[in-house]
Amino acid sequence: MWTIAQSRRLTDTPYADALERHAGAGIANFHALPIGSLTHAPDGETTPHAEQARRLYGSRMLAAELTLGSPELDSYFRAHRSLARSRRLTAEAFGADDSHYVTVGTTGANQIALEALRVGTARVLVDRSMHQSIHFALDRLQADVHYAPTAADDTEHGVITALRRAQAAGDRYDVVVIGVSAYDGSLVQMRRFLASLHELTAETGIAVLIDEAWTAIHSFHPAMRRNAAVACVREALDDHPDWSASFLVTQSAHKSMLAMRQGSYVHVSASADRLMQLRADVSAAVYRVHTTSPSLPILASLDIARGHAVAEGEALVERALTLAARLREVARRVPGIAVHHPVPSAGGAQSAYLADPMKVHLDFGSPERAQAVRRELYDEYGVYVSRQDGRTLLFTVHIGVTPAQVDTLVEAFETVCCGESVECACPDGRWIIAYPPGIPLQVPGEQLAALPVQQIGEELYSTF
Ligand SMILES: Cc1ncc(COP(=O)(O)O)c(C=O)c1O
Repeated sequence: MWTIAQSRRLTDTPYADALERHAGAGIANFHALPIGSLTHAPDGETTPHAEQARRLYGSRMLAAELTLGSPELDSYFRAHRSLARSRRLTAEAFGADDSHYVTVGTTGANQIALEALRVGTARVLVDRSMHQSIHFALDRLQADVHYAPTAADDTEHGVITALRRAQAAGDRYDVVVIGVSAYDGSLVQMRRFLASLHELTAETGIAVLIDEAWTAIHSFHPAMRRNAAVACVREALDDHPDWSASFLVTQSAHKSMLAMRQGSYVHVSASADRLMQLRADVSAAVYRVHTTSPSLPILASLDIARGHAVAEGEALVERALTLAARLREVARRVPGIAVHHPVPSAGGAQSAYLADPMKVHLDFGSPERAQAVRRELYDEYGVYVSRQDGRTLLFTVHIGVTPAQVDTLVEAFETVCCGESVECACPDGRWIIAYPPGIPLQVPGEQLAALPVQQIGEELYSTF
């Protein structure tokens, strides 16, 4: 993926280094953010709440919670020193033209991206299974939204079907919004998708927001990188230099990398004719949408996350793949558990989808049993499973999962027992969204009666 010299450079962490130099330097701050001095107490005076904050966060974390306009710590909105260098290294590592750091999650990153793509004056084709942040932002920006049909089978992505129909009817879309790595582990086959997208928009041009929330780490493993959004976009743009196209890819770095919660990347890639304008539009959107109080520890963690992924990502993804394979193997031999395939055709020659090998879906035979297992895993073994879908539980084997944790899980599988199911009556509304994962079950214009009945465990429904 990179030369040795390049790898060494890409592991540098210029922003985190700068923050470390400032953390605990004892600078008297006449601006804001008293938390540091209130909990530092150099004169030995303390209070129970200050003590609690110190116990909870640790003195180094508190020392790094800074608000400083120091030149070395750079300007968030007009970066030109350590933060700019860090972002350039991140762009290079992923293969983007530019990368922005966001400290308000991909929820915020998606709003920034849609603002940058000027969806308020655009005809926008939207994959309906997008995260709620996309639906709400499109609504707020008063975009002319068209939902792509749900694919009749898995051989063509619904967005491609819609583009094909539009082309036949002499219509066009200005912006496409697509999710390529869902919480459930289905991945869009990026090369195939981009080849079709190019075929259908080569004449008209296109702007695309790709939400790759769950799989930023894939870019750091040679085999997984072959389907990683930023790398595939780069390849498609290089293969078709006449294609007028702009791409923004958003990723929750915190979901899969060594980044703190709410740390998110927005990667910018475009054809030569669009790049300058897109860069300017994204910077302006960050300025308009992002909090003016970015968390410096989160920014630093985005720097560290890229350095760490360049240095260790391949080995850690490899370990996660091995552990996931072990879980599947155990599930095949323990009675009462089966491996479930959420997209049965995924990976097939004709399929528009792939299955994320770092996600393991296990079928426990009935929703009640799945729920009981989930509860028992938590109560008895300290194992948290975030997602139940009917009779299956989803185990995400991220790079932080250790062999010892998988041992615990394997041991637990042998002692599962049954529990109660939870019923839910879905209220009518414009969107119906279960959180997690925050993906609408119903979008405006759809009939409630047409929805599949879902067993949702303990998740809450809300309407908007
Ligand atoms: C597909 C998708 N996009 C975006 C988000 C929002 O990301 P964040 O939690 O970083 O705000 C999520 C959250 O689960 C998601 O699943």
